[in-house]
Amino acid sequence: MKNKEKKEVLIVHKAESLEGVLEISGAKNSALPNIASTILTDKPVILQNLPELLDVKYMNSLLKAIGSKVEQIDEKTFVYSLKEPTSLCVDYEIVNKMRASILVLGAMLSRFGEAKIALPGGCPIGQRPIDLHIKALRKMGVSIDIEHGFVIAKGRPKGSHITFDKITVTGTENILMASVLAEGETIIENAALEPEVVDLANLLKKMGADIEWNWREGSRTIKIRGVQKLKGTAHKIIPDRIEAGTFAIMSALTKSKIILKNYPYNLLTYVHSILNKIGIHIIKTGNDTVIVKREKYLKPTYIETKEYPFFPTDLQAQVMTLLSTIDGLSLIKENIFENRFLHVPELIRLGACISTINNKVAIINGVKNLSGANVKATDLRASAAMVIAGLIAEGYTTIHNLHHLDRGYEKIDLKLSSLGANIERKAVPIKENMFE
Ligand code: EPZ
Repeated sequence: MKNKEKKEVLIVHKAESLEGVLEISGAKNSALPNIASTILTDKPVILQNLPELLDVKYMNSLLKAIGSKVEQIDEKTFVYSLKEPTSLCVDYEIVNKMRASILVLGAMLSRFGEAKIALPGGCPIGQRPIDLHIKALRKMGVSIDIEHGFVIAKGRPKGSHITFDKITVTGTENILMASVLAEGETIIENAALEPEVVDLANLLKKMGADIEWNWREGSRTIKIRGVQKLKGTAHKIIPDRIEAGTFAIMSALTKSKIILKNYPYNLLTYVHSILNKIGIHIIKTGNDTVIVKREKYLKPTYIETKEYPFFPTDLQAQVMTLLSTIDGLSLIKENIFENRFLHVPELIRLGACISTINNKVAIINGVKNLSGANVKATDLRASAAMVIAGLIAEGYTTIHNLHHLDRGYEKIDLKLSSLGANIERKAVPIKENMFE
């Protein structure tokens, strides 16, 4: 049991070779907007394949706090029904734990015409403003004031022509949810194309929303005609492409024989093309299972993170870990977030040879081996990169700040232990935890 003098760390030993079957969980970034969308109807909505993550727990407690009945049917299935709201305010405690809380703004305005939500703070990877969300909602006729750290929004959104100055995933999701019950037609231009946004649109259509979107052709224009009411439905959320990509990289790095199940092959086309260039091949063995094969000598490469369908920023730390042990010079350019190289000093502690320019470009000079050390998880996805690094570093690696890891990866230590990895979650006295 944790007590106040102790913190949990993860001790990851170098793995010889892992073997077995790994199931990819439901996508966190699909679960969160999908749960928010259940606010849009007073009928029950069943969501299946939800991952068991802290962020899902936080979003469920947010829904309960505004009056939704949240019932767990089985490990991955929940039923949501919000008949009457008990509160239209989402306070700082919840938002501070999970910035994606902002995803209930559009849905609450659609259904109730009012919402008061604490402003999401910054986060390690960047300032992460929500100005584009607010600008779009104001264009839809919503009055929004920012006071005492709250977004205070009033008025039902009206159909409008919205063009996002920048591609924003949760911005697109918020406006989708703000438009499905709006009076008239809404056009969203420069919309995000991420599969998780498409999954939300598919759920909204099942609830009766009138949405026209040729996302298969890569169209960034969405046309939504407001309807009177939305109905309940059942929906299975898509697998997590970031978890899938993380485990594919891990499998190649540890020269393992792992079967990845529920692998969303078609959502990782560009990532596979980059891995192929490096010498890593994802081989389909069934309609949603793959194995990962690698050439003897892997090749350095150049990667830029971009919006979907290109290389996802959420896989950047993981692929940097891979490149840090490939002989030769590799380059990564981070285009999405202004501070997403926090894992670089941690990889350097493990013996990697990396330098950065203006926090935008990382130059990676591959080394033969990494060596185990104390490191800290710096953001949700970078924490997985530390686990991967620990599996290939000589000796063992102790990972601190585990809350980042538990927010994004369902039971990653149990999943990897089932493959034969020597991973131990341990409570250590705070004095040993160097990253308080
Ligand atoms: C979503 O964040 C994801 N989170 C992130 O995953 C992901 O890294 C990100 O999209 C990019 O793919 C969820 O879906 C819950 P954005 P989001 O709005 O929507 C700027 C994870 O690890 N911007 O697409 O917040 C912003 O600063 C997380 O699961 C504005 O300037 O990202 C960033 O530079 C990390 N103003 C860029 O746009 C705005 O109003 C893209 O951000 C909104 C965004």
